[in-house]
Amino acid sequence: MTNGGQVSRSGTPAVVAHRGASADRPEHTLAAYELALAQGADGLECDVRLTADHELVCIHDRTVDRTSDGTGIVSEMTLAQLRELDFGTWHASGTSAQVLTLRELLTLTLDWRRPVRLFIETKHPVRFGSLVEQKLLAALQEFGVAGPPSADHSRAVVISFSSAGVWRIRRHAPMLPTILLGDTARVLGGSAATAVGATGIGPSVETLRLHPDLVDRAAAAGRVTYCWTVDEQPDVQLCADLGVRWIATNHPQKVREWLVTV
Ligand code: G3P
Ligand code: CA
Repeated sequence: MTNGGQVSRSGTPAVVAHRGASADRPEHTLAAYELALAQGADGLECDVRLTADHELVCIHDRTVDRTSDGTGIVSEMTLAQLRELDFGTWHASGTSAQVLTLRELLTLTLDWRRPVRLFIETKHPVRFGSLVEQKLLAALQEFGVAGPPSADHSRAVVISFSSAGVWRIRRHAPMLPTILLGDTARVLGGSAATAVGATGIGPSVETLRLHPDLVDRAAAAGRVTYCWTVDEQPDVQLCADLGVRWIATNHPQKVREWLVTV
């Protein structure tokens, strides 16, 4: 419901900072996640990739070229090589930053003063076979967050465009929430989420605009909806009206301001 340019908070979607507060700080850096938490984000989203020496790092692209002062393919570089690069100064904020590991992000999330959901997206798990999921589950178990979510503890949710990746997680950690991402209604409205046992679906906002019925159909099957990447007020309104549970945005503060109690 619109109210003077603001959005009703009834049935409010929770706000997930996509790659951190990535409009204001370089994506996937500690500064981006700390700002998102300070701005009141309910959840954090990150993409994870395996390095050549099998460390999980928070990097979106296949290469480091766009988001660092170096060049190279992430999966062919060691963590030590990544640590030599600056992942911050490419961004307009000018903040210099080291590569962030998943372990460092888990530590930040779990040490935060209130419960926060961490949405971890596995990128291209095919290259390393099931090793991405094995390493991810080992880390989540080590940090004690491989189980079901609760209201009063920070927890992890694994999200992926790969149905095989979601299936592998469900097989080894059936209590861990998972979201099958997709940018077509064909994937998310069909049986794919059921087949892999995902607990939620994750349509792009463009898909949701075209197929708003996806939310109700998911709910009828007992699934929540996570929508990405929602940066415009009309889309925040749409998500609120439809009953989307989580919205991922590059602007967590602005979206929270739109989601006000009436
Ligand atoms: O949160 C899901 C969304 O991040 C998927 O797209 O390319 O930004 O990882 P991408
Ligand atoms: Ca992502």
